[in-house]
Amino acid sequence: MGEQKWDGSLARARARDRAPRPRLGAAITMTPWTLVDRAEAEDGARLELFRRGSHYSIRVGGSLLRNSRVHDSERALAQLALEALAPDARAAATVLIGGLGFGYTLAAALAALGPGAAVSVVEIAGAVIRWNRDLLGELNGQAVADARVTLIEADLCALLRAPLAPFDVILLDVDNGPRAVGRPSNGWLYSPEGLAALRAATRPGGVVAVWSAGPEVGFSDRLRGAGFEVVLHRVSSHAARTRERHFIWLATRPRDLAGGV
Ligand SMILES: C[S@@+](CC[C@H](N)C(=O)[O-])C[C@H]1O[C@@H](n2cnc3c(N)ncnc32)[C@H](O)[C@@H]1O
Repeated sequence: MGEQKWDGSLARARARDRAPRPRLGAAITMTPWTLVDRAEAEDGARLELFRRGSHYSIRVGGSLLRNSRVHDSERALAQLALEALAPDARAAATVLIGGLGFGYTLAAALAALGPGAAVSVVEIAGAVIRWNRDLLGELNGQAVADARVTLIEADLCALLRAPLAPFDVILLDVDNGPRAVGRPSNGWLYSPEGLAALRAATRPGGVVAVWSAGPEVGFSDRLRGAGFEVVLHRVSSHAARTRERHFIWLATRPRDLAGGV
């Protein structure tokens, strides 16, 4: 599939979180967003959780990080990556998820995995972990309470820079895309050094899946340059938003022919 040019602007990325436009003549009864909790991130940024009806949104420094209403592509991130594994490997796979958010990717991974699987979730914001434990379980079927889940409050970049036992699958959704990073230090993840670290943290035959709100020219080639086989998927952001697409790269670490693994 061809890759489109995308300027990486957060404004475009956030378009997925727009409220649907009311039909002309329809009565507009807008329930306001209510602040549920506020916390300070480890870098001093203001983290806020808002609620409107059954929906939540997380803001960082006043800017929207994600809205719970639109989540089909977050689920697809886990589904596509796990479908790429052989069924017997899926039953007891080890999975690393970068970025907990509303826990949709985690819930989709748990649904696709067997009882012998183990899922480590790395989340930099302690408040996001706490909100998932205390408030957000209704969105994701209490995913963080699942016995297969280990929550790690840490920076994914720091974790990947240290030696790690390799995973069958790594699901990466910490940013709006390879260039539209939420924090400058996350840019490392998509650099040749970061991709080499992701490859080293993946078993031969395993998969790294990367979520993005938009296309990214040259990113498939960058993944190939890091030693992955690459398939790019365009997926719907939400069933009701027929034209809006998000992007998921599936990067498979080839099996080591010499070692026969
Ligand atoms: C967009 S949300 C993830 C959405 C998630 N896939 C879901 O299903 O709701 C991104 C998350 O990554 C976290 N994050 C950002 N940078 C990170 C990093 N370097 N290490 C770990 N977590 C990070 C943010 O705090 C946020 O919770």
